[in-house]
Amino acid sequence: MAADPILVEVNGEPREITADPMRRLSDVLRHDLRLPGTKVGCDAGDCGACTVLLDGQPVCACLVPTGQVVGASVETVEGLADDGRLDALQGAFHRHGAAQCGICTPGMLMASAGLLRRNQRPSRAEVEDALGGVLCRCTGYAKIIDAVLDVSEVAGVELKPETKLDPAVGKSIARRDGIDKLTGAARFADDGVPADALVMRVMRAPHARAGFTFGDIAGFLAAHPGLLTVLTAADIPGLNGFGIYPEPKDQPVLAETEVRFRGEAVAAIVGERTAVGAVEITDFPIEWSPLPAIEGIAAARAEGAHEMHTHAPGNVLIRGRVARGAISDAFDNSKISLDGTWSTGFVEHAYIEPEAGWARPTVASDGTRRIEVRVTTQAPYMDREEIARVLGIPEPDVRITPSVVGGGFGSKLDQSVGPLVAVAAWLLDRPVACTFSRQESLASTTKRHPSEMTAELAVDADGRMLGLRFHGDFNTGAYSSWGPTVAGRVPVHASGPYYVEAVQATSAAYHTNQPPAGAFRGFGVPQASLCHEGLLDEAADRLGLDRLEIRYLNALRAGQPTATGQIFDQGIGMAECWMRCARGGANTWMRRSVPMRRRVDRPVTALGLAACSMAVAIPQ
Ligand code: FES
Ligand code: FES
Repeated sequence: MAADPILVEVNGEPREITADPMRRLSDVLRHDLRLPGTKVGCDAGDCGACTVLLDGQPVCACLVPTGQVVGASVETVEGLADDGRLDALQGAFHRHGAAQCGICTPGMLMASAGLLRRNQRPSRAEVEDALGGVLCRCTGYAKIIDAVLDVSEVAGVELKPETKLDPAVGKSIARRDGIDKLTGAARFADDGVPADALVMRVMRAPHARAGFTFGDIAGFLAAHPGLLTVLTAADIPGLNGFGIYPEPKDQPVLAETEVRFRGEAVAAIVGERTAVGAVEITDFPIEWSPLPAIEGIAAARAEGAHEMHTHAPGNVLIRGRVARGAISDAFDNSKISLDGTWSTGFVEHAYIEPEAGWARPTVASDGTRRIEVRVTTQAPYMDREEIARVLGIPEPDVRITPSVVGGGFGSKLDQSVGPLVAVAAWLLDRPVACTFSRQESLASTTKRHPSEMTAELAVDADGRMLGLRFHGDFNTGAYSSWGPTVAGRVPVHASGPYYVEAVQATSAAYHTNQPPAGAFRGFGVPQASLCHEGLLDEAADRLGLDRLEIRYLNALRAGQPTATGQIFDQGIGMAECWMRCARGGANTWMRRSVPMRRRVDRPVTALGLAACSMAVAIPQ
């Protein structure tokens, strides 16, 4: 029996919704009412991206069953602007540059609108409290909070981007894409999916390492009306592999005989949206044969550990090495030497927009079949190369259209949904869309490399860095991804932004049965920074130097060689920058964070004294 229509007011307009009353309001708003301004980051009430006003109160639309809104008023970001102008709240966000990637912005705006209806002059603490349920990975929240506190009664700018290009250097300028992000018009990868698109859902491994065999797939399809196909590795038309480098292309689009990490893709079901959503994972016909897995760097190094790839004997994907200067002399001549060990774990990028995209086949004027892929990506040209190889077609026959990206931070430099939807659309000759769930995004995409590092630092009596020894082992996970760049490059910057007379730095990247580790803001710099910054802090404390002073003393300057011997003749403004920070008060912060233990019982060098005195009282 058909469900009764649900009558509701949406953005001031009466609407009649014919939908399962248990469907999430966010889903119905986005797909049935075509109001994709409301975003979905988690579908679990955690991120707040889906915040809308329900009878004036902010709610997570992903937690509201549509049947619960009968007779209610629902307001989404699309309803804020009026008469062709941003409303006052949107105008304040625009002035403050409060929308960065923009994926959290609709949720931030609606939560703020709910607050301002109750309280037109909120305190900072009240704004923070009201926005506490909406997560932002880009802005650091300050601009958003400032914007809410700065809402004036004057409505904002016109709903068209600035076209006049005034000189921008030294000025705070409005974002050219700001208005679209404030009105919900910006199209992220899961927005604007073609109405006739089929939907894909990926079947993933529940084991870190396992063999598998498929059961009765034809029977599974027959038992699930609305499903059109199940894709497996056998369906990949071209090369079932991708990777950042020309070799190895070691990550399969769909695993062939063995999965190498928990969450790896083994198959993809494609069909009508409701049919795909109704499939119970446990119904999928697959038999698993779990195998001993390598979990962690020590297990990868262990004698007798199985080799995960032929390209990585001993499970070592790559080694890096940098050596400059006489390292033994540096330690022989030092006043003090310090050492330490550090380890770091996987870090998830956690952008609010999960991986998403859709593909559709097209036909060129000369009759050539082509594929168009719209996807959230940081690397459209790399996507084109990979998808062409996977489909076995020339690169010019692949068109990648990057969507607005709701945060990437490095991870969207890798493949995710692109090859999968491209293969499905190519084979079915229909548009196919896929959006990873938050759980899939967490389980299957790249992470920051876990590391195990040791370092020794030799320092002279003045605090100068004479020598650094470093070794870092990095867990690059099941597949190569950006491992060669990250782990291979760490020795290059293991000594940090400092001049060190002698450097001996090595690294290795090990494959494990864990998620692939890839690019993540800094390519190994954050891990190595723990070592050199930790040792510098300890050296400062032991020599009685200020922690900023020792950094100023050792800061790389023009004409000095880096760890690799590269010499910059100009453009290194770090020491001057720190000096200005000290003048501006940053050193007060440094001093507060560390009990000052400057001693007067040792001679202070001229440079050290100069740095110190400038830090304390620099003439203006
Ligand atoms: S809270 Fe609803 S999508 Fe995250
Ligand atoms: S601007 Fe908030 S998540 Fe990107």
